[in-house]
Amino acid sequence: MSKELIRLKNVSVAFDDAVILDNLNIYFNDKEFLTLLGPSGCGKTTTLRIIGGFLTPTSGDVLFDGVRINDVPPHKRLVNTVFQKYALFPHLNVFENVAFGLRIPKTDEKGKKVKIPEKEITERVMEMLEVVNLKGFEKRSITSLSGGQQQRVAIARALVNRPKVLLLDEPLGALDMRLRKDMQNELKRIQQAMEITFIYVTHDQEEALAMSDTVVVMDGGKIQQIGTPEDIYNEPKNAFVADFIGESNILDGIMHEDYVVEFFNRKFKCLDKGFAPMEPVDVVIRPEDIDIVAPEKGQLRGTVTSVTFKGVHYDTIVDFKGYKWLIQTTDYHAEGSVIGIILNPDDIHIMKKSEYSGMFGDYSSYSEEYDEIGDASVELDEEESEDED
Ligand SMILES: Nc1ncnc2c1ncn2[C@@H]1O[C@H](COP(=O)(O)OP(=O)(O)OP(=O)(O)O)[C@@H](O)[C@H]1O
Ligand SMILES: [Mg+2]
Repeated sequence: MSKELIRLKNVSVAFDDAVILDNLNIYFNDKEFLTLLGPSGCGKTTTLRIIGGFLTPTSGDVLFDGVRINDVPPHKRLVNTVFQKYALFPHLNVFENVAFGLRIPKTDEKGKKVKIPEKEITERVMEMLEVVNLKGFEKRSITSLSGGQQQRVAIARALVNRPKVLLLDEPLGALDMRLRKDMQNELKRIQQAMEITFIYVTHDQEEALAMSDTVVVMDGGKIQQIGTPEDIYNEPKNAFVADFIGESNILDGIMHEDYVVEFFNRKFKCLDKGFAPMEPVDVVIRPEDIDIVAPEKGQLRGTVTSVTFKGVHYDTIVDFKGYKWLIQTTDYHAEGSVIGIILNPDDIHIMKKSEYSGMFGDYSSYSEEYDEIGDASVELDEEESEDED
């Protein structure tokens, strides 16, 4: 359906001895909203600079429509950039800020300078101001605009040249929460109306999930996972992704056979397969997937150690034999109460062990004490079975 527009092929970047990007392979489809998501310093801006042509990779290729563009300068690429700091001209009004790029004469094939006629400039600027919902703001000075309005001027200015691709580097970073949410919807609408490719950078996972067709999760200059927001959330590839995208309880487990995993000395049915017999794995359980039941009805039984009201739900920390889990529930369970939990096969997600194993998904810091797990014998879990406590 979608056509591939840009491809990074084995792209690496090193400064002195430090490897900043480590063998990236990504393709970007035409008209796609793709987000690079990851913590500070993971290489998001560096990746955008490679695509924009501001930086040449140390090794590897950048392809546009199948053609290698490593040596094509930024202004000859069909790509524009919107930065976090809008870099608008404060002495020019809204109209002139958007028109700025159109007024720069272009050189045609014969080396002749060509100017865009004034009438066309006016038409194109007005069309863009309409797209970003700033009709009637033409004569306003930049300094009289709110942050969100300034950001929309910056977007109009970047779009007026009709790029095939817009690169956006944390464009909403300076806005407050409410405005950020409004602008997220606005950006999505603009991208769909203009039918162009957006490559968006953020370290905000909620923003990435809400806006993107495709999310690329990065850490340490490497791609950790590429997928739809649903894929990334429901099927995280490793403990880093599981932890970075939402809250996760992550435990050590052992895959006994296809669809059977053991953790807490107990076997659970799951939906995962294809692991070696008795392969150690990481088990992810999302806090909102856990069903709380009466203690005697639970597969596991634990004690509530803290409860925090979060508006829609309670963040409830539960101690299971010294391991503390986060459970999100709309029902209130008081600190000190004993609860049972039920895990259905589709609440359990199995991941291969990785360099991130053991680093995330432990909520013991929510309360002080941390005990050793008991050494009960393994038994296969059946619906009616009691916790082995
Ligand atoms: N010109 C440079 N020389 C040396 N190191 C650099 C250079 N540019 C970037 N780096 C390093 O590369 C790493 C990745 O930087 P980058 O700006 O791509 O991160 P980022 O993911 O955009 O982070 P943030 O969310 O903080 O903007 C950082 O450790 C940074 O210090
Ligand atoms: Mg950055």
